[in-house]
Amino acid sequence: MNLKSLVEEVVHVAEGAGKILLNYFGKTLHVERKGLRDIVTDADLASEEYIKGELQRRFPDVPFFGEETGGEERGIRWVVDPLDGTKNFAWGLDIFAVSIALVRDDHPLAGVIHVPTKNITVWAYEGGGAYTKDRKLVLDGGRPLSESFIATGFPHGNPELVDPYIVGLRRVLKRAMAIRRLGSAAYDLAMVAYGMFDAFWEFGLAPWDTAAGAVIVREAGAVLSGIDGSPWNINSPTIFTGKRVPYGEMLKIFRGEIRVD
Ligand code: IPD
Ligand code: CA
Ligand code: CA
Repeated sequence: MNLKSLVEEVVHVAEGAGKILLNYFGKTLHVERKGLRDIVTDADLASEEYIKGELQRRFPDVPFFGEETGGEERGIRWVVDPLDGTKNFAWGLDIFAVSIALVRDDHPLAGVIHVPTKNITVWAYEGGGAYTKDRKLVLDGGRPLSESFIATGFPHGNPELVDPYIVGLRRVLKRAMAIRRLGSAAYDLAMVAYGMFDAFWEFGLAPWDTAAGAVIVREAGAVLSGIDGSPWNINSPTIFTGKRVPYGEMLKIFRGEIRVD
């Protein structure tokens, strides 16, 4: 399988899904509850149906897993979040993304993230670098944490993670230039690769939130690990990535002090 041509096709699929989302955005949505502080809308379902159909038509041999409809959980497969940032979307905040990854077991091989409201798409495949429309994404080592713009997400779906999360948040808050919590992990990861955020961490994400973003940040030159510096895979309980300098400072803050099992 040629990952370069594959990922270029997947860019079209993600952008097609983005058009579907924009047709729903700002309109009355059908919303259902699917878990603790978790909802799904007709826009999530329409985007996933489109992505699944397009991927199966273009790559009939690759099985599919989507957040909303499930599917294959091992081996080579697509891992898709058709709308990351559903609550932003449902409440009218224009930060949300489409995330599509090609994964082998626990390891993402290629990924595409599209941000429809900003018409930004980023993509990467293992060993091939990370790209957006007009440039290759190449991160520098960054600046000290006191000069760094940091993104995070709250572990709102899992009350047990709140206390350990707050320990780290308090420490980073006292040192970083600024912290933002925007409500779409795929967007946050895309913006690390894009060079806007200098680092990002979150607890309790799912494989479909992170699979595409992980390969993109890594190929852009960010460091990627669990919160304790452990090797990251799509089932890791935490994700922590960033430019080398702020990543290193934050690792000292987190390591040995914060346990998330
Ligand atoms: C959510 C977003 C959010 C993160 C949540 C995710 P969804 O995904 O990525 O930023 O904090 O944990 O569940 O539900 O909007 O696809
Ligand atoms: Ca998600
Ligand atoms: Ca989603």
